[in-house]
Amino acid sequence: MATINDNYLKLPGSYLFAEIARRVAAFKEANPEADIIRLGIGDVTQPLPPACIEAMHKAVDELANADTFRGYGPEQGYSFLTDAIIEHNYKARGIEIASDEIFISDGSKSDCGNIQEIFGTDNHVAITDPVYPVYLDTNVMAGRTGTLQEDGHFEGVTYLPCDASNDFAPALPKERVDMIYLCCPNNPTGTTLSRAELKKWVDYARENESVILFDAAYAAYITEDDVPRSIYEIEGAKDVAIEFRSFSKTAGFTGTRCGYTIIPKTVKGHAADGTLVEFNKLWNRRHTTKFNGTAYIVQRGAAAIYTEEGQKQVKETIAYYMENARIIREGLQAAGIKAYGGVNAPYIWLKTPENMPSWDFFDKLLTEVHIVGTPGAGFGPCGEGYFRLTAFGNRENTVRAVERIKKQLHI
Ligand code: MLT
Repeated sequence: MATINDNYLKLPGSYLFAEIARRVAAFKEANPEADIIRLGIGDVTQPLPPACIEAMHKAVDELANADTFRGYGPEQGYSFLTDAIIEHNYKARGIEIASDEIFISDGSKSDCGNIQEIFGTDNHVAITDPVYPVYLDTNVMAGRTGTLQEDGHFEGVTYLPCDASNDFAPALPKERVDMIYLCCPNNPTGTTLSRAELKKWVDYARENESVILFDAAYAAYITEDDVPRSIYEIEGAKDVAIEFRSFSKTAGFTGTRCGYTIIPKTVKGHAADGTLVEFNKLWNRRHTTKFNGTAYIVQRGAAAIYTEEGQKQVKETIAYYMENARIIREGLQAAGIKAYGGVNAPYIWLKTPENMPSWDFFDKLLTEVHIVGTPGAGFGPCGEGYFRLTAFGNRENTVRAVERIKKQLHI
């Protein structure tokens, strides 16, 4: 009989957002008339920018004609998109990225999850706690951890606690680690790392020959100057960091799927015989073997965000969500609830009233005021006593949700 990958059995039964969807569906079935407002999963609600729609329509028409039809594209992405990304997101900030250091994909969740395949299974992983579950779960699946302990931590992983006591900025690990996952602006806490904080991590990685896996999916939401938009703004980062970016939250591509990963050729790891190997080469090998490229139509849509009108439209939508973030943050504060984030990120991380366990607060919010959020404990033990609300709802629902919390929630 075939055997299974036993590492999967180490994981809790379901993925966080699947568990939330299950609980909400059960509540809805028992209370069909409940007017539920969903501020749980970070899924966008506003339509794609008109510039993207126009470009996608045009691309559809091209595919309808034998002369302009396209089948398989380059696995790494079309140059009309990679060039635009390099120009706008990197060159404009003084960062040199070569065209063979960028890989277009079907979203940064896939890339963040798949990247660990090109690292040895004996690598020691460090993650923040709380953390976007994809980084941890995929390393569990790959066998890079032991089992789940009673304290909610997996054996063999270095956890970097982040809470209000350290301003959600993780301290450097005491032991040497190989792979370090950092997400900035952070999901779930909505907080950021300053240039100086990030520099500490780059220096650590250089000294310890570690690699930083830097998830910058929310970079477009940064409003403050001192927060780097890319890790490559930090000197030396190109030797030690891989960066993930996404069109999902930047331009509403959660459904259409498009993201990219930057792997500078200067980021290297040791082979078993001690030779130095570029991670870029391994990712290219993996990408070309396992992926046939993001849809042409989607890439045309993504490239349109770099046109003048595309930039304007994207900025307007981001401003819309950030106004939601302000409404939630200030509304919570008015209700006497301590709230973090929401200034450089579309997530608000709140302290549960009276330190209520976060799944209890989830149930309370759902049953009393019919609002769905995400329990902090779902992101790791240090998320216990915290709760996440997203600013990706529409304005009307966001305002209604805040009013319900202020007026109807019995704290
Ligand atoms: C979230 O809610 O944390 C995000 O939607 C997750 C994701 O982007 O995959």
